[in-house]
Amino acid sequence: MSETNEGEPAPAFPLPRKCPYRLPAEYAELRTHAPVSKVTLPTGRQAWILTRYEDVRAALNDRRLSSDRGNPDYPMLAELAKSDRDSTLSLAGMDAPEHTRARAAVVGEFTLRRMEALRPRVQAIVDQCVDEMLAGPNPADLVRALSFPVPSLVISELLGVPYADHEFFEDRTSTMLSMTLPPLTRQKAFFDIQTYLDELVTGKEADPGDDLLGRQIVKARKKGTYDHDALVDLAFLLLTAGHDTTGNMISLGTLALLERPDLRARIVDDPAGTPAVVEELLRYFTITDIITARVATEDVTIGGRTIRAGEGVFALGGAANHDPEAFADPDEIDVERGARQHLAFGYGPHQCLGQSLARMELEIVYSTLLRRVPGLRLAGSVEDLSMKNDVAIFGLRELPVAW
Ligand code: HEM
Repeated sequence: MSETNEGEPAPAFPLPRKCPYRLPAEYAELRTHAPVSKVTLPTGRQAWILTRYEDVRAALNDRRLSSDRGNPDYPMLAELAKSDRDSTLSLAGMDAPEHTRARAAVVGEFTLRRMEALRPRVQAIVDQCVDEMLAGPNPADLVRALSFPVPSLVISELLGVPYADHEFFEDRTSTMLSMTLPPLTRQKAFFDIQTYLDELVTGKEADPGDDLLGRQIVKARKKGTYDHDALVDLAFLLLTAGHDTTGNMISLGTLALLERPDLRARIVDDPAGTPAVVEELLRYFTITDIITARVATEDVTIGGRTIRAGEGVFALGGAANHDPEAFADPDEIDVERGARQHLAFGYGPHQCLGQSLARMELEIVYSTLLRRVPGLRLAGSVEDLSMKNDVAIFGLRELPVAW
């Protein structure tokens, strides 16, 4: 058994969530007694985990903690197979100054204004998915009816990826994000998406349309900076980051709303209050708790502990978002708290690029669903819901609903 500095065994990480509503119970204890502590990853390697809000925020804003997936010491949640052309995971795997330049080149595509211009189209997509659900069998699985189709359709249209291929990329994304499937299976899923996007980008080079990828080609060519592989990597990141995350929040947020008539009434009676509900649900569930991993490039002191150069760190957004020092009664869903400073979208240079889009999608889905299907209810019990504890982004596999 591996040992921490104090001679304590380093517990296994990640810790499973035992209920859709609860983060691992161990976080509270760690936050109080060992807020910067060592764990053992599924790969057998050790890393640090941070559970206090202030430490997590400081770590995510500290440039000595690198996001570089190419660094052999970067803490992986599952063993990777070797690949011919290691993807940098685009922005998400870069450090400054490359990261700053690459992010500046695409950030204009995700401004609040641009996202607001998409609102009518997102509303139409949600209405169409709700129509189809209502026309189908009752009860239905909300994950299949809404959680996956809505963000997949939106990100496909935004990027210029044919939605007809959605089953292919949804399936490969969840395989790739698995922490338990064999390395070669995950690597194949990764290559499948990469090959698909390579061909798609090649097609767009000949005929760039008015979609995000087409616009990036035109803009970079004008500046003389066009790089095919870099655009394939960016497309990969946006496509995979853009649907699974939001999809899981659609399921979990809807579950919470179905069980809380007061929140439901709030959204239906006062649509202007929906953003506050969305914000609190993002904080509460923090589905990306374990994805914000870094590797120290020099010694860094956090919360009184020294993290040595070459050691890995998981800045746990979920643990931070349930720190009572930052949020009173953190395990309660309280939409009055004004949770805007939560870390569900990360913090610092890598803070989520798609957050305005995600917020808008969630607002539209929750409000449309509750307004259009007033009798919507959970078909079954919360205890029977199957949770995704084997995937790096938390969610539900199914959400049976009736109306
Ligand atoms: C509820 C939905 C979402 C959640 C909870 C979420 C969460 C996050 C988090 C925590 C990070 C920071 C990762 C890090 O620091 O290592 C991140 C980064 C990122 N997200 Fe999201 N995300 C969501 C939706 C989206 C959507 C819809 C898109 C795309 C269109 C997107 C694109 C990205 C990109 C490109 C990055 C990397 C940014 C960078 O490294 O500069 N995300 N997201």
